[in-house]
Parts: sequence; C-alpha cells; structure tokens
Amino acid sequence: MKVFIIGGGGREHAIAWKLRQSPKLTELYCAPGNAGIAALAECVPLAAEDTKALTAFAAEKKMDLVVIGPEVPLAMGLTDMLQAKKIRVFGPNKKCAQLEASKAFTKSFLERHGIPTAKYKAFCKKEELLENIGLFGFPMVLKADGLAAGKGVILAATAKEAEEAIEEMMGKRVFGAAGDTVIVEECLRGTEASMLCFVDDRTIVPMEPAQDYKRIFDEDKGPNTGGMGAYSPSLIFDQDLEDEIREKILAPTHEGFRKDGLDFRGVLFIGLMITEEGPKVIEFNNRFGDPETQSILPRLESDLLEIFLAVAGNGLAMHELRWSARRAVCVVLAAGGYPGTYVNGKAISGLDKVDADVLVFHAGTRFAGDGPAAAGTGGIVTAGGRVLGVTALGATHEEARAKAYENAARIHFEGVQYRKDVGLPPNLDSVNEWDSADEAE
Ligand code: AMP
Ligand code: GLY
Repeated sequence: MKVFIIGGGGREHAIAWKLRQSPKLTELYCAPGNAGIAALAECVPLAAEDTKALTAFAAEKKMDLVVIGPEVPLAMGLTDMLQAKKIRVFGPNKKCAQLEASKAFTKSFLERHGIPTAKYKAFCKKEELLENIGLFGFPMVLKADGLAAGKGVILAATAKEAEEAIEEMMGKRVFGAAGDTVIVEECLRGTEASMLCFVDDRTIVPMEPAQDYKRIFDEDKGPNTGGMGAYSPSLIFDQDLEDEIREKILAPTHEGFRKDGLDFRGVLFIGLMITEEGPKVIEFNNRFGDPETQSILPRLESDLLEIFLAVAGNGLAMHELRWSARRAVCVVLAAGGYPGTYVNGKAISGLDKVDADVLVFHAGTRFAGDGPAAAGTGGIVTAGGRVLGVTALGATHEEARAKAYENAARIHFEGVQYRKDVGLPPNLDSVNEWDSADEAE
C-alpha cells in the first residue's frame, strides 16, 4: 500500500515510524516531512497547507491512503478534496473539523448534547465583551474562536489584563479573523489530561491516556507552547475515572455526532480537566496531539495502518487495540527563545550517542544545505521551535523517565532548552536532581 502523510513535525515522525512496521506498507511519502522522517519516507517539498498541490500529488501517485497530521489542512477541507478524487483519507472532513477550528461550534455542541464542560458565553462585539468583564469571575478565561496555533487562550487574572487581552484580540486583531468571536469561560480547576480516541461512524475507541506539559518552564511556569513533553499511560487515571469518561463524555459525544450528521473519521483528541465535580471537556482537537502521540504510539502493539484503513472504511468496531504494558516518557528539546523568537540553522550533535532502543522523533529539523536533496552531505540542523522529542520506554514509569533524560542530555545544539520535570507528578519540587545535568551541557 502507498501511504501519504501530511505534516512535518514530531507527531508525523511518530506516525511514519509506526506505519513502517506494517507488513501492508509498500511505499511511504510525507509532505513536507523533516530530516528524521526522510529516513522512513520520501519527503515531498509541499507545504501542509497547499491543499490543491497535495491533492494533485496524491491523485497522480494513486495513493491508497492519505493521513492528515495537522489541524490547518483539516480545517481547509483537504479531506473533502481528496475524497472528491476517490482517495481514502484518515482525518475528518471540513464540517467535522469545526470541532477544533471553532470553539463556539464546539461549545454549542457540548451544551446541546449535555456533555460536561465549563460554562461559557460567545461575544462578537468588543463593546459588549468589555461590559462583561468578570463574567464567571477571575481569572477570566478568554478564547479566540478560531485556530491560533495554541496561543489563542488567555487566563486574565485582573480586569486590566482582561481589557488588554480583549484589545489584542478584537481591537488589534492579533489572531486575525480567528479572534473576531471571543468565548468567555468559567475557569475550571483540577488536573488536565488528554484522551485521544479513534472515531468512525459506528464506534469511538479511546487510546491509552497521556499527560502533556504545555508551559515552557518547570513547574508549569512561563508561556504556553505546543507541548514540551508527554508520558503515557497517565498516572492520574484509574478504571473508575475511565468508566466515568466513557459514560459522560465519549458516549454522548459519539451520539451527538450521529444526531448532528457529523461523519467523523479520524482522531478526536479530548482535552480534559479532572475537577472535583468529575471530568469536564476543555477542548476538542480533531487530530493526534503533539507530543502526546510520541508517547502513545510507541506503546501501541496493533498495526496502525490496519487501524487507519478501518477508520477510513467505518470498520473500526471490528478491531481491538493492543497496548504494551511498558511506560513511555517523551522529553521535547526546544530552540532557545521558544515559544518566542528563536534562530534556526543550529547544528545538532549527539544524535549518534543515543541508545539503540530510544526513539528520537524529529520536529523542527532539516539537513544542512537546502533540504532533503542535501541528505547525507552535511549534518542535521534546527528548523523550528520544537526541535526533537526523545522517547524512552521502560518497565516502570521511573525507568522510562530516567532513560529519556539520560539520552536527551547527550544531544546538543546551541540554545537547547527542555523541561526537567516531564514525568514528575504535578507540583512536586524534587526537580533539582536534573539541574547538574543541565549545567554540564
Ligand atoms: P485550549 O486551547 O482550549 O486547550 O486551552 C489551552 C489551555 O488553557 C488549556 O490546556 C488549559 O490549561 C487552559 N484552559 C482553557 N480553558 C480553560 C478553562 N475553562 N479553565 C481553566 N483552564 C483553561
Ligand atoms: N499537545 C497539545 C496539542 O497537540 O494540541
């Protein structure tokens, strides 16, 4: 089978790595890919947002399956464009993609189907929103309705901060049209967790839960990022919580898809807050999480290509997912300055020093020179904010964690930064043991 992956980050590298294990796979392509993916797939120099060119390429190559990684091409309707050419796709269509592309759409879906979530109100006029500062109290949760690369959520501690955020979103329009509607939410308190599910028309099947680290600095300090690390399985889940999530969230969500005519086929990523009143939905994404995927897929024992084909063909109910009992921890190495400005092109060293059983998923990397054509001619250099994800597996969570950090410390590029507390339960202050390793770099 010929498979074409869209995207070029750590998530897509993990998907490519897992697909390569399938005996059904014959050819693998990826657009645009990166220096790590180039070892597993033929990288095609097309941007993930160039939906027309991607569709034409998939048709020309007669791809058997296209797997869409990031949210933007999903929101642009790439699935619909490929399906119009009779190409099989893993990833929801444009109508379903609103579940990530519009927070107002998702909130009204959740409300309509009685799924637990924060109270909310949507505003499309700046003056009206300014009159409602403090609605649901402080911190005031303000969200740009549309896609904003993970930066569209502000928790304003005071009325002044809220006013400033509103001015940015609706006055200066820093998120463009994505901020023309702003959602105000009640602030939920509790522990966050991510649950990713495979979904087709007939069933919804959760993967093993994972934990993500969103902020740049240890102890959840500093600005939000795309995700600085992850581990799986989550330490906060037990059978009771899983059962409660199935009953109160997964079942009514799937039933809601049916009632609303949403033909969802792909991954539904549910951001959850585990509150004292039980689990509540913070958000939906309609794709694999990054870096959650880099800690989940290494634990999957089933054939990922078979699962993708089953989802695309509405046959998921016939499949059972098998998971390894091993634990996985993924530490993300980021460029100095990220999530603010940073400089690309820094030489990466030490990739050859990593243990053979440790997985290094590339996110923002390219070959020195002008791209994949220069493969093998020079080294690998940084080409993005999140550069690499180092995933280690272990018989215990602690073993996986120690191995991930030992190996992460062997990789170097100028300015490299990573969190030292990935895999520690939240709010533990015993992170100092890693400080000496950091200074040694
Ligand atoms: P989102 O993009 O909607 O996932 O929001 C990004 C982050 O903001 C979440 O991961 C939470 O940490 C935080 N957040 C979003 N909504 C709320 C809420 N209603 N209450 C508390 N924290 C929230
Ligand atoms: N790690 C969060 C996300 O992929 O949206």
